[in-house]
Amino acid sequence: MSNEPRFDGKELRRVLGAFVTGVTVVTTVDAEGRQWGLTANSFSSVSLDPPLVLWSQSVRAPSHPAFSGAGRFAINILAEDQIELSNRFATSGINKFEGVDIDAGEGGVPLLRGCSAWLECTVESKIPGGDHVIFVGEVRSVRRNERRPLVFGGGQYLVADAHDLGKPPPGLGSTVQSQLHAARIGARAMTRLSEDFNETMALSVWGNHGPTVTAWQPSKTPVSDSLPMGLALRVTSTSTGLAMAAYLPPEATRWLIDAELDYNAAEQNGGPVDEEQLTRLLDEVRVQGIATRPPGAFYGSERLVNAISVPVLDASGCAVIALTAIGDANRFPGARSPLGDALRQTAADLSLRLGFQPDANANPHAKKPDLAAAQ
Ligand SMILES: Cc1cc2nc3c(=O)[nH]c(=O)nc-3n(C[C@H](O)[C@H](O)[C@H](O)COP(=O)(O)O)c2cc1C
Repeated sequence: MSNEPRFDGKELRRVLGAFVTGVTVVTTVDAEGRQWGLTANSFSSVSLDPPLVLWSQSVRAPSHPAFSGAGRFAINILAEDQIELSNRFATSGINKFEGVDIDAGEGGVPLLRGCSAWLECTVESKIPGGDHVIFVGEVRSVRRNERRPLVFGGGQYLVADAHDLGKPPPGLGSTVQSQLHAARIGARAMTRLSEDFNETMALSVWGNHGPTVTAWQPSKTPVSDSLPMGLALRVTSTSTGLAMAAYLPPEATRWLIDAELDYNAAEQNGGPVDEEQLTRLLDEVRVQGIATRPPGAFYGSERLVNAISVPVLDASGCAVIALTAIGDANRFPGARSPLGDALRQTAADLSLRLGFQPDANANPHAKKPDLAAAQ
């Protein structure tokens, strides 16, 4: 039987790329005082006591002889805004240190400014590893600041951000914090939904002019070239407005609704014209867990669009954000569709994340929502 691997080099690289890492620049100085550095994501911790770390270098790297001959190295853990530095130190044959702000570390090893953290090491051992050499270093000193680290995975730079399903930030509870948290996790959910269903999505909050779009995620063929942020929507005649109004205290919505009912009656725009019609619409939202409206022209265009919206509820059962999918009225799938189900499920998941308890009937302003009813 052949010992040849049953994968090619490209596939191996892709698989290794599934393991996400930080990005470091490893630096040293040679006997002539010349500074060396290269971008490396092979850095890893080895031992706490004694404190050991490792990184590996290609034996083909032009800087390899310098690192091989040096007794020290420093690991500069790059911050999220240091992509340019990462690219520079991954480029052979240029003067990498020109114009770069550095401090001199122990033994004159350069330390790059603005990083997330630094480890200064003496070389403990060098272990051959195929076409690489593994450098094990004993950590002599460490320093860090609060800068967020740069991340690398799947062949591209990434940002480090708390997972949607992780713990909410400590102290979450004040309205502002929970709104920010909701907007952040909502934005990520919106991006995922838009990619999964190739629909334009909007994220809205309740602003001082009512429902307000704070973020868009266009589909491959968005409903409009201009998707304005800060777009204030009507409460009674948009799915976003209804989704939020169904789960907000009446005193928050009253002043807008009164004016809109009169406006709807005058314009005959299909929106509810009296309290009874509006109550029916809001009850429907609470039963279905999703708001819909007949097709209408998209803001600033003639194009007829359809939209469906779901409210995301906070711990008190109030709508904190709404997620809305918008598409061309001719082909939009509507609420009873995989897209509608996914929206409802996403809103239910996000609401749970924000501390909403579906069984606690926590919202004194609304009937108990049935967000998980995905059928
Ligand atoms: C994100 C990233 C991670 C890298 N990690 C390593 C590594 O761990 N070891 C290595 O030898 N080269 C690594 N490289 C490639 C080197 O940075 C690159 O070959 C560099 O030019 C070597 O420096 P030199 O040409 O001055 O020797 C990495 C490059 C990038 C962009």
